[in-house]
Amino acid sequence: MVHASSKAVIDEAAQFISSKTSLRPEIGLILGSGLGVLGDDLEDAVTIDYADIPHFPVSTVEGHAGELIIGKLQGRNVALMRGRFHMYEGYEPERTALPVRVMKALGVTALLVTNAAGGVNLDYKAGDLMIISDHINLTGRNPLVGPNDNALGVRFPDMSEAYSRRLRQIAKQTASSLGFEVQEGVYVGLLGPNYETPAEIRMLRTLGGDAVGMSTISEVIVARHSGMEVLGISCISNMAAGILDQPLSHAEVMETTEQVKEKFLSLVLTLLPQM
Ligand code: 6GU
Repeated sequence: MVHASSKAVIDEAAQFISSKTSLRPEIGLILGSGLGVLGDDLEDAVTIDYADIPHFPVSTVEGHAGELIIGKLQGRNVALMRGRFHMYEGYEPERTALPVRVMKALGVTALLVTNAAGGVNLDYKAGDLMIISDHINLTGRNPLVGPNDNALGVRFPDMSEAYSRRLRQIAKQTASSLGFEVQEGVYVGLLGPNYETPAEIRMLRTLGGDAVGMSTISEVIVARHSGMEVLGISCISNMAAGILDQPLSHAEVMETTEQVKEKFLSLVLTLLPQM
């Protein structure tokens, strides 16, 4: 079997996408649960079902559509993923990050990843947006495991500035110019699919985590391996377990992201031209 992110696999997917549009994307966007609305705003858009793209997995989660949209947003050529792949669905980490490899092959140099995450930092509240300053990979998995293809990136990639200082600065300035506050903090990625226990959340806080989720990590590792500049934004959709006296549910996650949509949209649309 060919490796899920071998050059042949990546090129076949990229060639298929290139055959559907002459637009060449420079910025990649991966939209998390409930944040896919942005896909409606693209001009000259070509929408491709993941199911039609050679080697692409198909996402199985409610609230995650499965389509790649290539088009123009705020004057920038973008490749936008509405819906993403998670390791808890059973995909190998390198398969969840295949779209990032394909974006790179299409010419993307900067990646904006978004997600819904639980608040671990006690100063946070549901509805906050958090610029990701750094992450802690507690998924127990890594998309770079296996033989390294030096054409894709180095064996031991540096992660000392995984989330671009320049892009974080732009995001914070943009939020401030729009008149709202954003948090900035550390995203902890776990495998899932269950939400954490209160004891696990206390542990994550001790370790320096501010928010917790089940995506993003493998995508960002691959993006950095391939030399992309990364910006990450978490929508704090709920406080994590044990903080408020209430159970967690996917319905709550979707509800909050729905409420934060406008703020999130204005932030992304305003910062995009500056990326
Ligand atoms: Cl509390 N935990 C995880 N792992 N993912 C989440 C979440 C919590 N809230 C939204 N996504």
